[in-house]
Amino acid sequence: MKAAQAPIGVFDSGIGGLTVVREIMRQLPDEQIIYFGDTARVPYGPKGPETVRRYSSEITAFLAGQGVKAVVVACNTATAHALGMLQANLPIPVIGVVEPGARAAVRGSHGGAIGVIGTAGTIASGAYERAIRALAPEIRIAVRACPLFVPLVEEGWLDTEATRLIAHEYLAPMTAERVDTLVLGCTHYPLLKPLLSQIMGPEVRLIDSAEETAAETARILDSRGLRAQAETRGEHRFVASDAAEQFLRMGQRFLGAAIERVETTTLG
Ligand code: DGL
Repeated sequence: MKAAQAPIGVFDSGIGGLTVVREIMRQLPDEQIIYFGDTARVPYGPKGPETVRRYSSEITAFLAGQGVKAVVVACNTATAHALGMLQANLPIPVIGVVEPGARAAVRGSHGGAIGVIGTAGTIASGAYERAIRALAPEIRIAVRACPLFVPLVEEGWLDTEATRLIAHEYLAPMTAERVDTLVLGCTHYPLLKPLLSQIMGPEVRLIDSAEETAAETARILDSRGLRAQAETRGEHRFVASDAAEQFLRMGQRFLGAAIERVETTTLG
């Protein structure tokens, strides 16, 4: 098989990364995807950097073994802790979600502050702040970990009274800092967009890195002559490290389309 016809590997701590897969499918319809969701070890958000790096290495070794031509790290926490290490260790392109998200935020901001919300690990890593500062050194940045959003989204509580109260509490510092752009720095947060937008107000731009990450993937594949040709695309594959039924049930919410089959494999 020609390298360009090989699949793209996409991984996440669980099912949230399907929001990125959805966008890759939309922008790059000729590409075959192998998605790995580490459902046995989710969440990554509260775990330490070393653990997340170890998990990420195991997953990329699995994906490399499937013959992928590039890896997209759809998980913000894994990108924050492990992207540099993965890029140094793998012979294929590795694309994360933080830099594309930071770029879209800087482009979208009109001189106000940029807010970043994410898991505890992503926020503690400072990855978004570094990426934003590298592009716009003077810009004001407000950050806030919102760990309760992940279980709320997985529960399907996208607009309940409880979620609304918690969101108000989490976003209060963002409003106080008068952010004009808010980066949704976690795979799950795009599903809360309508609620977060109501709370922040229509003038605040919400940045979902999935779109920009898919565009970045297209650019990188093009620059290396790795774009697949239309006619021979294989079936997308979905692999989880645990609980295939739950993946099937919840996956649709994140992917926006039904998933027919999930394979399971154990890592580590
Ligand atoms: N996928 C994670 C992220 O984007 C959220 C879920 C988790 O904590 O593992 O940071």
